[in-house]
Amino acid sequence: MSEQKVALVTGALGGIGSEICRQLVTAGYKIIATVVPREEDREKQWLKDEGFTESDVRFVLTNLNEHEAATAAIQEAIDAEGRVDVLVNNAGITRDATFKKMSYTQWSEVIETNLKTLFTVTQPVFNKMLEQKSGRIVNISSVNGLKGQFGQANYSATKAGIIGFSKALAQEGARSNICVNVVAPGYTATPMVTAMREEVIKSIEAQIPLQRLAAPTEIAAAVMYLVSDHAAYVTGETLSINGGLYMH
Ligand code: CAA
Repeated sequence: MSEQKVALVTGALGGIGSEICRQLVTAGYKIIATVVPREEDREKQWLKDEGFTESDVRFVLTNLNEHEAATAAIQEAIDAEGRVDVLVNNAGITRDATFKKMSYTQWSEVIETNLKTLFTVTQPVFNKMLEQKSGRIVNISSVNGLKGQFGQANYSATKAGIIGFSKALAQEGARSNICVNVVAPGYTATPMVTAMREEVIKSIEAQIPLQRLAAPTEIAAAVMYLVSDHAAYVTGETLSINGGLYMH
């Protein structure tokens, strides 16, 4: 087994995902990044923009919604690296609409990407961690999975589901020294949030006690804590980084 620790990150090219990769690479990790094949062209540019080298990141070009192909591709990457120490399930989408107007497609796409693919990604990683008798899994939920959000019945359902999933897995992993935790970001300055209408963003900011959006670095720092030695006794926990928007 090589010395360098390996972290698999989904949604690595996104606002929060990129920052998580940046902090993991700085801490010495090799990244396995799952990337939707249509984003293929963006990979090289992303490596360049981030200042990563080819040896920092192994891309797995796969659509996580295609269960069998994605499982095989992830398994192949784990086998090639020979180990996997950290998994960050970060991939997620929004399809906001009031429930009255929500289409079945908006409902299903969010359930599929945010929740169903957790099975596909986590099972091969978890099985390897069981074999290694160690591992850290951090699943990215949301403040809106805890408090619910007008216009996000689909997204809130999945983000709450991620918390239940993590608590169950934490119990199954504990005897093999696998810790499973959740980071629940608040509204963070990423394209997902800035895509909302200006007045909606303003009204949300007005509700945040710390009176600003989170920086992606602040979310990634919570992930880094949970994968660090300092968090060796933390499992099944949900760490909120939401500026006080919801206190639970
Ligand atoms: N609570 C109660 N009522 C609300 C409300 C709220 N939070 N927000 C809007 N309403 C009311 C409006 O005042 C309006 O009332 P009237 O019909 O009486 O005027 C009615 O509900 C319809 O609202 P909209 O005009 O906004 O309806 P729309 O169909 O144009 O838009 C929406 C609906 C797309 C859901 C829009 O309200 C919206 O974008 N909301 C914000 C959703 C949100 O917070 N998404 C988070 C995305 S970022 C993310 O998800 C990352 C993360 O993890 C935090």
